[in-house]
Amino acid sequence: MPPVALIVAAFATSVSILISTTQNQGILKEKLRLKFQPDKFQGDKKTHRYFEGWYYKFVSSDQYNAGTFDNKDASESSQTSMAVVPGIFLGDTADSTESHAFIFVTINGQRQHYYRFPLHQFSYANSSEQYYIQIGDNRFSHEGVSLNIYPQEKDDASLIMTGNLTFHSISPWPVSFFGLGAMGPVGWIPGLECTHGVLSFDHELKGSLTMASATRDTYDKTSPITISMDGGRGYTEKDFGRAFPSMWIWIQTNSFRNNPGTSLFVSIARIPIPLFGWELPGFTAAVWHDDNLIPFATWSGARFEELRVSKDEVRIVIRSGKRNDKSNYRVELIVDRRDVPEVLLYAPVNHTKMEPFVSEALRARVHMRLTSFKGEILIDDVGDNTGLEVHGEVQWLVDNVCEKMSKKSLICL
Ligand SMILES: *[C@@H]1O[C@H](CO)[C@@H](O)[C@H](O)[C@H]1NC(C)=O
Ligand SMILES: *[C@@H]1O[C@H](CO)[C@@H](O)[C@H](O)[C@H]1NC(C)=O
Ligand SMILES: *[C@@H]1O[C@H](CO)[C@@H](O)[C@H](O)[C@H]1NC(C)=O
Repeated sequence: MPPVALIVAAFATSVSILISTTQNQGILKEKLRLKFQPDKFQGDKKTHRYFEGWYYKFVSSDQYNAGTFDNKDASESSQTSMAVVPGIFLGDTADSTESHAFIFVTINGQRQHYYRFPLHQFSYANSSEQYYIQIGDNRFSHEGVSLNIYPQEKDDASLIMTGNLTFHSISPWPVSFFGLGAMGPVGWIPGLECTHGVLSFDHELKGSLTMASATRDTYDKTSPITISMDGGRGYTEKDFGRAFPSMWIWIQTNSFRNNPGTSLFVSIARIPIPLFGWELPGFTAAVWHDDNLIPFATWSGARFEELRVSKDEVRIVIRSGKRNDKSNYRVELIVDRRDVPEVLLYAPVNHTKMEPFVSEALRARVHMRLTSFKGEILIDDVGDNTGLEVHGEVQWLVDNVCEKMSKKSLICL
């Protein structure tokens, strides 16, 4: 389907469903306003079968590293990379005891720490306030984060982390009527299983974090360490919806060795379309370079030339548009997954509970080559601290690359 038809179809259905399901003009207005503020909590009216999570990534500058903290093999990279993911999960029924707010933390992708909070400790900005969310003592806003995380009894966590970071020059995926950020016009389709947003491709960090181990056994005796995050870089994205897709590939880094400030985001998934019971392969990806957004997405007319997945690497080649279009870009990615540690990210299972079952790396490496229509090389660089998830039977995605298919399907990669 050409992108324009998709826009019209998506918009028409979304407006009709919004109007038919909304008795109250005030709620309709509030819903529409939140569409243009993807950073804010979108689940205000939800009572069950819902999750929303914000993925905050922090990478220290070269001079600072956490040494051996949570890091059994001190790797070649001297940076410390961490993901802090605050979120909320609502279980199968409105009174489910599995509903909770949470914070997930991993340092260098070496082990996972999962902290649970009762729902009443989760608070958030409404549509007329500045964005923030707060879970317990932990606050997340456009200006930065303030952390005071420690394990409670029964938490799958052994890390204490405190400190404040401020963010400078955040760079969100722009949101407009015709393009709801990373989702583009597809974001208008109501009832999507999972919606994605890039809240900042890259920003600079200031501040420091103190970490200590909360366990007292002889193998894991670390005294508190404080690492400066001054001059480090951050990245923020989010997900919300009913469930994760059945399969996906996700890649992210903004730690390019020779291109500080450049950021890469790739998400390819099997997407159930609520209207017709179809399952379609879809993707949204972008390179943020010199403060410019170069989108590569199903809805922007981008096409795969190659998609290969093995246990050693992921290879991807995408063209941003038609072959002889002058505004065309081509991006080649080779993600090296060899000897990269993985943690288990907690994710919703069967709408009923959160369980650790999605393997995620934080220390993969990606070789990226970005070329223009004329073949000019714009970037040829290696990104460290690369987030990578390859989840489910992704061979189905590989089989749905248009160039490989014998008969043309309506929608392919
Ligand atoms: C949003 O919150 C502020 C501060 O609590 C409050 O004054 C305002 O009325 C709220 N706005 C809406 C639309 O609920
Ligand atoms: C972080 O900020 C909070 C709130 O502004 C403050 O109460 C706290 O003392 C700060 N923590 C550190 C370690 O500076
Ligand atoms: C999924 O949840 C339903 C209840 O909502 C339950 O009956 C079913 O056994 C669950 N399936 C799995 C695989 O956990």
